[in-house]
Amino acid sequence: MIEPFRLERRFASHEYTARSTLTASDCEPLAQSEVVALADDEARGMWEDLKLAYTEYRGLGLLREEISGLYESVSPDEVLVAAPEECIFLAMNCLLEKGDNVVCTWPGYQSLYELARSMGCEVELWEPDEASGWRFDPARLRGLARPDTKLIVVNFPHNPTGFLPERTEFEEMVGIARGCGAHLFSDEMYRLLELDPAARPPAACDLYDRGISLFGMSKSFGMAGVRIGWLAARDQALYRRMAAFKDYTTICSSAPSEVLSLIGLRARDTIVGRNLERIRRNLALLDSFFEQRAELFEWVRPACGTIAFPRLLNGPDTPELCRELLERTGLLLLDSTLFDYGRRHLRIGFGREDMPEALALFEENLDGI
Ligand SMILES: Cc1ncc(COP(=O)(O)O)c(C=O)c1O
Repeated sequence: MIEPFRLERRFASHEYTARSTLTASDCEPLAQSEVVALADDEARGMWEDLKLAYTEYRGLGLLREEISGLYESVSPDEVLVAAPEECIFLAMNCLLEKGDNVVCTWPGYQSLYELARSMGCEVELWEPDEASGWRFDPARLRGLARPDTKLIVVNFPHNPTGFLPERTEFEEMVGIARGCGAHLFSDEMYRLLELDPAARPPAACDLYDRGISLFGMSKSFGMAGVRIGWLAARDQALYRRMAAFKDYTTICSSAPSEVLSLIGLRARDTIVGRNLERIRRNLALLDSFFEQRAELFEWVRPACGTIAFPRLLNGPDTPELCRELLERTGLLLLDSTLFDYGRRHLRIGFGREDMPEALALFEENLDGI
């Protein structure tokens, strides 16, 4: 049996009934017509003549070609297309067996450690230091990894803290994985949303032959509804196992989604550029909100991505606060119990266009605290 996915269950109950949300992790969703309007001639032709047939099991060739261009050393044959959450499922099932030792960044996206637990693996959690800006210290990873560690799982840009390691720190993590011969599963779902592009660490699949990079259309592109993500992995034996395992999940991806993703990726400078502009605007609002309420919140400004994890310094615990806000005002926020991380943090999302209104609603209703 596998534990319920706490965050996804909370979204399932409230995402489509809440009046407003201040906790979404994706960028503003694009309309299909906006994506199609960005198509070049080739992709527009593919869209117009698209047959709704089964698709190539590893992903449309042109799409894999475009994806491989995001990396330095990955060929289209080393890219496997699947829904992002499905990618995690495929990788964990093909990498792990009962009893294996796994180290995973935590708090975090639950499937990154819960699948391993449900398979009977021994999972060590690698915690960041909030007082140092949520830094994941490679020295702590070195202390947790063992010679028989099978897999190290990291997620940078990090959900929920927005932490991004420096290049040298990321290289140190890769060195630790290499030292114990472990694979490195690197969830890079929020890649390209670094406020300073120069601060973007390399992708794990480029640095390490046993590195597996996960990325997709959901967050940075605002195209979660296409359900397209991918794994980039140069370990050919692992790649073949994951591709074959997909026969037991979705077999192949949706044809319209693949073409929309191709268009989105080819127009990435435009799409991601707009998303970053919105993120910068929204972050400026959060900066002044938290500055005025420094006695109430501890605010660590994220270096990238669409989410942050402020701590409530006094007043009620965050599960109670979130419940009351939802009941009284219809505002959806996530508390830290959904990450199994105590009762004092909130996950705030700032990638959406209506974030200023959601923040105003939060502000209006904070008076009672
Ligand atoms: C870190 C991380 N990895 C993977 C996923 C899964 O992406 P998707 O919901 O598009 O399957 C998410 C979604 O929230 C995420 O935050």
